[in-house]
Amino acid sequence: WPHTASWAGEELRIGGVGVRELAAEFGTPAYVLDEEDFLERCARWRQALPDGEVHYGGKAFLCPEVVRWLDTAGLCLDVCTGGELAVAVAGGMDPARVVFHGNNKSLAELRRAVSWRVGCVVVDSFSEIGRLAALAAEAGVRQSVMVRVTPGVEAHTHEFIATGGDDSKFGFSLRAGLAAEAVRRVLAEPSLELTGLHSHIGSQITDLAGFTLAAHRMAGFLRAMEDEHGVTIPKLDLGGGLGIVHRNGDPLPPRPDEVVAAVREAVPDHVRLAVEPGRSIAGPTAVALYEVGTVKEIPGARTYVSVDGGMSDNPRPAMYGAAYTAVLASRLSTAPTREVTVVGKHCESGDVLVRDLPLPSDVRPGDLLAVPASGAYQRSMASNYNHVTRPPVVAVRDGVARVIVRRETEEDLLRLYV
Ligand code: LLP
Repeated sequence: WPHTASWAGEELRIGGVGVRELAAEFGTPAYVLDEEDFLERCARWRQALPDGEVHYGGKAFLCPEVVRWLDTAGLCLDVCTGGELAVAVAGGMDPARVVFHGNNKSLAELRRAVSWRVGCVVVDSFSEIGRLAALAAEAGVRQSVMVRVTPGVEAHTHEFIATGGDDSKFGFSLRAGLAAEAVRRVLAEPSLELTGLHSHIGSQITDLAGFTLAAHRMAGFLRAMEDEHGVTIPKLDLGGGLGIVHRNGDPLPPRPDEVVAAVREAVPDHVRLAVEPGRSIAGPTAVALYEVGTVKEIPGARTYVSVDGGMSDNPRPAMYGAAYTAVLASRLSTAPTREVTVVGKHCESGDVLVRDLPLPSDVRPGDLLAVPASGAYQRSMASNYNHVTRPPVVAVRDGVARVIVRRETEEDLLRLYV
């Protein structure tokens, strides 16, 4: 739950605002984002790495207001598309503080990165090294780059979000010698400046072992490259990936300072450490708020509680088998609990948000359910499946609620059709 979440007045309150008021004013479904909590989580990473760089992983959740918060908190930004770069700039971030990722950046994206003077481009393929070098030479600039390396570390997470193994579409394999070849090719390009090495082993990781193994391998590789080429490589970026808790009893991930302490000892003194946390900042800060529409009891089977959103605003249960929880948020109930299945309103049976959830047996239409830890990879992965409109993001702080991403309208949807 976000830090300011509390039960007062017999309803859930976040940032000093009650969920009944939020639902009445902004409608449901909605993501309610605790601004103070977001800034605190930024500060915790910043404090864990005072002499390094913290790039927020914008794919977790990005909008111009969040970009302004990052600026306030002294964080930089990791983007992986031209669209994310456009949001960064719309939010007023200096492109020099942006790191540009992606395994298949288009020529237009690379051109824009160079002309907007993006701080660093993370090169991900041999063809990209050539393309970027040509664009930088043409623009008469020396572009700072990091080489993305796959260090052969299998993070213990869902296979769709594990990225550090040798067989990956991302980066250059260390074991196969491709990473060393990429470093060689970057150093041979006068229009490129090698400022660092990068790895990202996966996401929703809750133990330290993978991070420390990757740090050791990457530091060893960095030293080897420095020795071989007689150069200094000033930065090691170990990516993001720190997991979060969704339900009571989920494994407790290490804190940012514990992650930094564990990897730091592997990193040579002259090398600046960088990280790219996304989920561990945005994830816990938001709650998804839904209204119950129907309760369907199937004798001898189960009870389905249907809410007014579903796999369009949270594809993670269907996509990764992610397990969430939900609570009755709009009132206190003393009724005994029973297990229900919380489902969305979409046109398929896989549209399940929470399985086997104990909820008070008097849950009824009009009640509000709150799903914690909904701040990362939910609004950013939301779709218009079944022509639903994507929910708003409402920031709450000190008793004030304001929309930072408005709800989509049917007009927004219809505007696309010719
Ligand atoms: N840096 C790079 C290069 C990345 O690819 C990612 C995430 C991050 C940083 C941020 O990772 P985080 O700290 O958020 O774990 N849609 C999936 C997650 C995909 C993560 C992709 N890359 C999900 O919903 O679980």
